Amino acid sequence: MRGRSFGVVLFCLGATAAFAQPGQPWMNTALSPDSRADILRQQMTRDEELILVDGFLGVAYQPGFHEPIPAWMKPLLPVSAGYVPGIARLGIPALTESDASLGVANGGNMRPGDTAVALPSSLLTTATFSPTLAFEGGAMVGREARAKGFNVMLAGGVNLAREPRGGRTFEYAGEDAWLAGVMVGESIKGIQSQGIISTAKHFALNDQETARTVMSVTIDEAEARESDYLAFELALERGDPGAIMCSYNRIKNVYACENPNLLTDMLRSDWGYKGFVLSDWGAVHSTVAAATAGLDQESANGSDRSDFFGNALRDAIVAGQVPESRLHVMVHRILRTMFAKGLFDRPVVKGPIDVYGDLAVAQRDAEEGIVLLKNAPAKNGSALLPLNATKRQKIAVIGSFADKGVLSGGGSSQVHGIGHTESMVVSLGGGTKVIDGRRWQLPQDKAVLHATAPLAEIRKLAPKAKVTFVSSSAIAAAVAEAKKSDVAIVFAWQYMHEGVDVIDLALPGNQNELIAAVAAANPNTIVILETGGPVTMPWLDRVSGVVEAWYPGNGGAAAIARILFGEVNPSGKLPVTFPMAESQLPHPIITGQRPDGRIIPTSGSPTAYDVIYQEGARAGYRWFDDQKLTPLFPFGYGLSYTTFSYENLKLLGASTIKAEFDVKNTGTVAGKTVAQVYVKPPFGPSRLIGFQKVDLAPGETRHVTLYADQRLIAMFDADANLWRVADGDYVVRLGSSATDKAAVATVHVNAGTVKP
Ligand code: BGC
Repeated sequence: MRGRSFGVVLFCLGATAAFAQPGQPWMNTALSPDSRADILRQQMTRDEELILVDGFLGVAYQPGFHEPIPAWMKPLLPVSAGYVPGIARLGIPALTESDASLGVANGGNMRPGDTAVALPSSLLTTATFSPTLAFEGGAMVGREARAKGFNVMLAGGVNLAREPRGGRTFEYAGEDAWLAGVMVGESIKGIQSQGIISTAKHFALNDQETARTVMSVTIDEAEARESDYLAFELALERGDPGAIMCSYNRIKNVYACENPNLLTDMLRSDWGYKGFVLSDWGAVHSTVAAATAGLDQESANGSDRSDFFGNALRDAIVAGQVPESRLHVMVHRILRTMFAKGLFDRPVVKGPIDVYGDLAVAQRDAEEGIVLLKNAPAKNGSALLPLNATKRQKIAVIGSFADKGVLSGGGSSQVHGIGHTESMVVSLGGGTKVIDGRRWQLPQDKAVLHATAPLAEIRKLAPKAKVTFVSSSAIAAAVAEAKKSDVAIVFAWQYMHEGVDVIDLALPGNQNELIAAVAAANPNTIVILETGGPVTMPWLDRVSGVVEAWYPGNGGAAAIARILFGEVNPSGKLPVTFPMAESQLPHPIITGQRPDGRIIPTSGSPTAYDVIYQEGARAGYRWFDDQKLTPLFPFGYGLSYTTFSYENLKLLGASTIKAEFDVKNTGTVAGKTVAQVYVKPPFGPSRLIGFQKVDLAPGETRHVTLYADQRLIAMFDADANLWRVADGDYVVRLGSSATDKAAVATVHVNAGTVKP
């Protein structure tokens, strides 16, 4: 198979453009994508069809690539995660795939100078609660992808953050299905607005990294429909991704990429999905089972144990184990998607990226997704933030990388951002440890920083201030500097990396000690967190300000500085609950972790890694509500430099709930807030049914109307395979977080059903 297809690969390398010739009826844009795909598929031989369902591993992952390719040709290839050869005879473009959760990824054996604009983490984008910004970030990724020669973006991570220590929490869109579905759907829409394909991933229930390739997830079917699956359903409806990536894990013992309940019954029969299913890298375990369950394309077969969709699939067809008609369906779905998303009609053309335009998108995103968590009165009685930029003052900036850049998360989504140099790679510890003869993986050693440096941005905005810097390794020096300063700004980090969950929610190393010591030396201490997800804050009551900056990307340092000095009024809200301690979580210890919680396995016998989500749909804030737990900071929370009121809540109930209300800026500066509506149905805990970000001048009022998607107030009936809305009184809460009760009212909703 490899040998046979290689000639075709060579012919299509380096050019992802369509080779449309006159007399190719499938190039008639007046026809539907389905008709075009049908016409084209009928021209293909079986061997050509097999080429489209069997991907290669991209150069980013395989330093030698597939060796027959001559060295001179390698620079012509995009640094990519995966590659599916095109068929020149028919003008079918190759699929050039790159990761894209936070910009166009360029990890692996990156070519010097190949940089891309680093967006903030997806969790930060979600914290903007702005579908518009999610779309704009997606569109920016789509534009850069085109310029770099990619036409498939491995984006759209929508796994719920039900495990906040999950190593990819930063790549996902938080713990709420509605918020995640809306935001990821918009980002997918943005990517695809540029005439390329985006995926949604990782389908499904790959909510932790520990044992991700062996774990079997057990969850009540109905509750999965109301939580993790709902996030996918909503993202698919809103974003219509061309492809969906099945995940590594098993669900009730069946691997996701060979799971007919997931890939056929739910995805096709219930949701009517028309795109194609591609596998995660190394997630295929069979030929016949995977092909018949609904997998349409094996990705990067070099990362699977065997080339399951190469010769093995041809043999299975010849032997009658997989009907030939199934191959036709796979190919139809791939071609149809390529037509529908523009790959034939708008071939990608390499060119320069719009660095300044794209940086502006990244910075806007960061400015709206950074969350002000605390702004307590300082000694003189007024809130410390925003700082006065025109004052002669002494500011001590403390913390390991504030003089260099801002932190990013690791793994396949890694972007080497604009301004990247070798000095932007920092060492954080990590490595492996051998216990009882087995090797255990610790979070990876090397982290990538993004320009620019917060220290430089702070100096730029406060030219009259004397701004000094001390690294976090020197607690005594930091304390001495803080004592001499008017304000101390401590930068703290938590590194997350794909493939490994964080050990706990504590800031690593000596950072808690450092913050406590600095706060004791100077009451005007502000902590800036650069974290993948929630962290615990034992020093919270001793500091004057806390800003959650997540992984803020290439525009992050400027955004942090502008928020500190009030050029931007913070408006980000938490898309995940910040617990007081791990003991509040549904799983105080991650399944697969050792009881001491310190060391995490990455492989082992499958049965040792059954992950049972007994909390069902009560993920995140719904768990805290159900268990009556008080978090450190609730979902939806975030402060502003102004204040808002939420009033005149009017409800209308019939088959669903309509909520109308007024939001007013009651303070003295302009600002944005996110009005949030939560409903407690007659059964179960509350859930978010709607949100709206509003931008208000001082004294201005905005009238907002929201309608709940019926599925958000329903229960899924797995036996009847439909949603049931219960007749009864629903308590509606309007406010600024999952626990705020600015206005509360009750509305009656009639019984009803909704077909999936
Ligand atoms: C990740 C995917 C990614 C793929 C290709 C896998 O390890 O789970 O999210 O798209 O690699 O880089």
